[in-house]
Amino acid sequence: MHAHGRDLIRPTIIAGNWKHNPDRSNGESLLRDVMGGVEERRSRMVGDPDSVEVLIFPPLPWLGWLSASGDTAQDSLPISFGAQCVAEVSMGAFTGEVGAQLVKDFGAQWCLVGHSERRTLFGVDDESCARRVRQALDHKLKPVLCIGETLAQRESGDTRSVVGEQLERGLSLCVEGEQPVIAYEPVWAIGTGVTATVEQVAEVHGFLRDRLCELRGSGAEATPILYGGSVKADNAADLLGLSDVDGALIGGASLEASSFLGILDAGIACRGGREPKLHE
Ligand code: PGA
Repeated sequence: MHAHGRDLIRPTIIAGNWKHNPDRSNGESLLRDVMGGVEERRSRMVGDPDSVEVLIFPPLPWLGWLSASGDTAQDSLPISFGAQCVAEVSMGAFTGEVGAQLVKDFGAQWCLVGHSERRTLFGVDDESCARRVRQALDHKLKPVLCIGETLAQRESGDTRSVVGEQLERGLSLCVEGEQPVIAYEPVWAIGTGVTATVEQVAEVHGFLRDRLCELRGSGAEATPILYGGSVKADNAADLLGLSDVDGALIGGASLEASSFLGILDAGIACRGGREPKLHE
């Protein structure tokens, strides 16, 4: 079940999605603790520290705050930042929107597209996702396209057709050579404490890898596919040990430094089976 050439071609990505949390003072200490923990682990890692990337998707004001403090300008920062959503339109008279160019200007390198909460609560559909992916790529942001089936869709046996269609439509405005990161997040596992089993995750990730190769050519082998949905420090090792799982998108457990760093430890340990010896 372990990776064969994964560490040669795909990084492991451990990504925290803070959603609409936390408040300002808790956010500052969370950021400080996570940053310190990541730095410490990088300094002790065996092998290339850049083979495991850490991303945080905070609410947008944090990007401005980080940018004002000069933090995101430092190449040496151990974490990259991203927006949880970008507009599907360029700058202009779109009250309330924040687009790819602006978040890039304020230090983001990444953005989520089509998180299930955006899809179900804010009406973002696959065509809108495709336009947002396009905006991100046009402004040199790296998009993470989120896809996943509902419980009803899984129970009626439609998982593959649902995620296959979300994948194809979400990537429909990409041109050859462009390849967003994919996050498979079954809707029924998000924020519920119910994690998909390793068998379920392995099956869908394998399907997505094959579908990506059909849609995008052999370059898709280099595309990270993350799993998200109730990932915690105590289930991360099993999930991250799967050969087609290249990282995790973490909601609830990213709001506590120790649990987020515990998942990072699992990601480092799974990386090619190396033992990072973090707890001596
Ligand atoms: P969760 O959220 O880890 O709280 O299930 C995952 C996500 O929404 O990305």
